[in-house]
Amino acid sequence: MTSRLIPVDPFVLAVFGATGDLARRKLLPALFHRDAGGQLTDPTLIVGVSRRDMDDATFRELAREAILEHVSEVDADVLDRFLSRLHYTAADAESDTGWEALATLLTAQSIRDQVFYLATAPVHFGPICERLGRFGLAHGRVVIEKPLGRDLASAQRLNDAIGAVFPEERIYRIDHYLGKETVQNLMALRFANALFEPLWNAAHIDHVQISVAESLGVEGRADYYDQTGALRDMVQNHMLQLLCLVAMEPPNSLDADAVRDEKLKVLQALKPITRNDIHLTTVRGQYRAGANNGGAVAGYLDELGRASTTETFVALKAEIRNWRWAGVPFYLRTGKRLAARSSEIVVTFRPIPHSVFDSHAGPLVQNRLVMRLQPDEGVKLWLMIKDPGPGGMRLRNVPLDMSFAETFDVRHSDAYERLLLDVVRGQQTLFMRRDEVEAAWQWIDPILEAWRSSEEAPKPYTAGTWGPSAAIALIERDGRTWVEDGA
Ligand code: BG6
Repeated sequence: MTSRLIPVDPFVLAVFGATGDLARRKLLPALFHRDAGGQLTDPTLIVGVSRRDMDDATFRELAREAILEHVSEVDADVLDRFLSRLHYTAADAESDTGWEALATLLTAQSIRDQVFYLATAPVHFGPICERLGRFGLAHGRVVIEKPLGRDLASAQRLNDAIGAVFPEERIYRIDHYLGKETVQNLMALRFANALFEPLWNAAHIDHVQISVAESLGVEGRADYYDQTGALRDMVQNHMLQLLCLVAMEPPNSLDADAVRDEKLKVLQALKPITRNDIHLTTVRGQYRAGANNGGAVAGYLDELGRASTTETFVALKAEIRNWRWAGVPFYLRTGKRLAARSSEIVVTFRPIPHSVFDSHAGPLVQNRLVMRLQPDEGVKLWLMIKDPGPGGMRLRNVPLDMSFAETFDVRHSDAYERLLLDVVRGQQTLFMRRDEVEAAWQWIDPILEAWRSSEEAPKPYTAGTWGPSAAIALIERDGRTWVEDGA
C-alpha cells in the first residue's frame, strides 16, 4: 500500500559516521525503503562521510551489505537505483582534513535542500558544526540524536555549540520514539476522536502507566551504558516524550511550535523529585543472572566485568502540577532484561460512582485504554460487558481490540523512515526543541543528584522478571498495580 506516499523533492543528505552502526542498521535501510516506496526522486544524492579513505564503489558495497542484512525483501533493480544515489568522501570531524573536498562536492550541487546527519558520537557534534559553518555549508539542516548531554549543563553546552552555527529552526533533534506509529496514533486518538478528550483529565482518569520493558540486556554496549543508566538512556528522552504526548493540552494545530509549546508546558509542570521523596517516588534496579527466552543469561556486573552502581531499571511516580492532572499519578517504568519486550501506555479511568449490580455480577473493573507500542502495535479499550447467555447479570472485562497488523495490511515501517523524510520536508513537529530537552534535564538532574547523595546501590532483580519488588511496592502503596500485557 504505497499509493498514497507523496514523493519528496530531490535532496542532498550528507551522513557523518556513514560506516557506523546507526547508518548501517537504521539510516541506509530506512532510505532504501523510501526509495522502494517511490518517494526519492532524481537527482537525490546521499553522501557518506567518515574518516576512512574509500571510493564510491567501496561505500556502495558496504551499503549493499547493510541493506541485504537489515531489509527482508530487496528488489534488485530498486537496490541498484538506490546505490547509484550514494557517494562517498572522507573528512575528519576533528581536523580540517577532507573538508575542502566535501565543501566542493556539496556546493557544486544545484539542490538547495541539504541535510547533515551527524551519526557520530556526540563529542563530534560541536566540531562538525563549527566546520560546516567555516566551510560555507551552514545553509542546510542538521540532525542529531541522543545522548544530548548527560545533565542540564552539558546539554546546554552542546546546544550552544550547535546553535552557534545553525538556527533552531534548522536543528532536528531526533527521538526515535516520536517516529513510532503508535506514538503518533496517540495524537490521532486524542485529537481525531470526540470520545476521549472530554474524559482526559483528573475528574475521569485515575492514573497513567508508561512501561518500556526490554528483554535484551546491554548487549555489546556495557561500557557506554554504564556511563548512562536507564534514567538518562530512556526516561530523560523517550519516556518523558510519551508522557508529554499523553498529558499535553490540545495544540491548535500540528505545527511544530504549536505541539512543542504544549509539550514544554508539561515538562515545566512536572513536580520536582527531591532528596526527601526519592524513596517513595523512585526505584532503581540492576539485573542479576537469570533466565531469558528459555536460556540462562549473565548478570549486568558479569557482562561489564567490574563493580558498578549504574541502574538498568527505573520506576518513577511523576506528578504534573496543573488543573488537568492534579492528583493523577503517572507511573513510569523501564528496564533491561525484563520478562518480555513490551511497551505500553495504559490510561486507567476512575471507578464508576455507584454500582446498580449485585454481588453475583462479579467485580467491576475500571475502564482502561491501552496503547501498545511494541511488539504488536495496537489499541485496546477495556470495557465491562455482560457475559452472554442466561444465568443472570454477570459482568466481564473485555477489550475492544484493534491490532494494527490485523487491521492494516501494511509493512511495519521503522521510525527512521518517517523522521528522515520529515527532515527533508522541513517538518519539525516530531523533533525536540532545545527548551524541551533542557526542561527534561531540569527535572532529571535532581533525581540523579538525590541518588548520588543517598549512596544506595540499585536494588538487584533477577533477569527475566519484572524488576525489583520495590517497583511493585511503589505502585501498590497507592492501591494500584502494574498492568502487564494489556490485561
Ligand atoms: C535507545 C536506547 O534510545 O532506545 C537503548 O539507547 C534502547 O538502550 C532503545 O534499547 C529502545 O528502542 P526500541 O525502539 O527498541 O524500543
